[in-house]
Amino acid sequence: MLAPERSPEMLEAEQMILDTVRQLVHEKVAPRAAEIDETGEYPRDLCELFAKNDLLGIPFPEEYGGLGSFVTYVKVVEEVAKACATSSLIIAVQELGALPIMIAGNEAQKQKYLPKLATGDLMTSYALTEPTSGSDAANMRTTAVREGGEYVLNGTKVFITNVAVADLCIVFAVTDKDLGPKGTSAFICHTDDPGFTLGKVEHKMGIRGSPTNEVVLNNCRIPADRLLGREGEGFRIAMATLDKSRPGIAAQALGIAQGALEFAATYLKERVAFGKPLSKQQGLQWMIADMDLETQAARLLLYEAARKCDLGADDVTYWGALCKLKCGDVAMKVTTDAVQLLGGYGYMTEYPVERMMRDAKITQIYEGTQQIQRIVIARRLLGK
Ligand code: CAA
Repeated sequence: MLAPERSPEMLEAEQMILDTVRQLVHEKVAPRAAEIDETGEYPRDLCELFAKNDLLGIPFPEEYGGLGSFVTYVKVVEEVAKACATSSLIIAVQELGALPIMIAGNEAQKQKYLPKLATGDLMTSYALTEPTSGSDAANMRTTAVREGGEYVLNGTKVFITNVAVADLCIVFAVTDKDLGPKGTSAFICHTDDPGFTLGKVEHKMGIRGSPTNEVVLNNCRIPADRLLGREGEGFRIAMATLDKSRPGIAAQALGIAQGALEFAATYLKERVAFGKPLSKQQGLQWMIADMDLETQAARLLLYEAARKCDLGADDVTYWGALCKLKCGDVAMKVTTDAVQLLGGYGYMTEYPVERMMRDAKITQIYEGTQQIQRIVIARRLLGK
């Protein structure tokens, strides 16, 4: 059943938000997208714009300053990503780094952090990946040792999105090396904690305005009350977070696909070859129809996954993987086809589709590669 079970008030609120977002994207985001990509500079002004318009905490529960809607959240990410994937990631990573607190935080932690994350007074990030544990996330080496009223963290995290512009970073570390995934714990680090330092800055193919850094924890001391949940619950928290954050990346992918599709369709109507607009060529009509078909199909999967998140359904792991897999692959295919439809112009930075193609690629890699999504899906059908 695809129809969201939502009240007329919620639907009206969503419509108002989406109208606002479309206008902001048109006026403020789209004109900046090419420059953000070219300079590789984080668009702090757009982060402030999203904060001012209450776009950073949409899926947060209402009592902590959110709207309590994943469906609205994914639609917002999609709208922003149509014009600028980097900018949409600001909203998606705020959710990624807030989810562990929503999922496992105690009341004091929720009260302390979530309202400020919803307003953008605090920005957050999520550090799971390590040099030798990407897909095999349970194999991490970072350690956290309890010393009196503190934990001392040591290790290196890599590819951490937006940590360079964040106040918080959720760090996963081993508290008992003999217990495998059950010996892993989650911590709320502040990026100005002693011993929390930023390492190498990555230079990337796409999402170039979003800083990606190594994080080096060198005797990083944090108060023990920054442990999320109990010791040993870290891997479960990391996975439960990804279940609900993967739809955000799927939404980013979908927005990129839709943006490329719309640009290519406009181009086909305007570009004349062999005495008529390209849009009159049946071969190209079939191509654009397939691009639209795949994008619409991906959208239905995504909205259903987001609805499952709102319902607190017990199969969000599966739906998160389904929508991330489909939307990421569609984004890659549709943007590649859009470049093809524009021919030589498509390959040039003067037109946005080559940027969209570069931006699409990461959606098949981060928050779990497409191969990991397939493992998650297959496990539901076949068991582990
Ligand atoms: N929810 C709750 N608990 C879960 C869970 C979930 N979704 N998935 C697993 N667990 C629990 C399991 O139940 C198990 O506990 P029990 O033994 O008590 O049953 C425990 O965690 C270990 O689970 P698995 O045995 O399934 O673990 P695994 O080692 O086989 O790995 C995996 C599973 C799905 C492959 C996982 O490692 C994975 O998702 N890897 C990909 C990591 C990833 O997505 N990284 C993204 C980094 S963040 C990022 O990219 C952000 C960005 O830049 C924007």
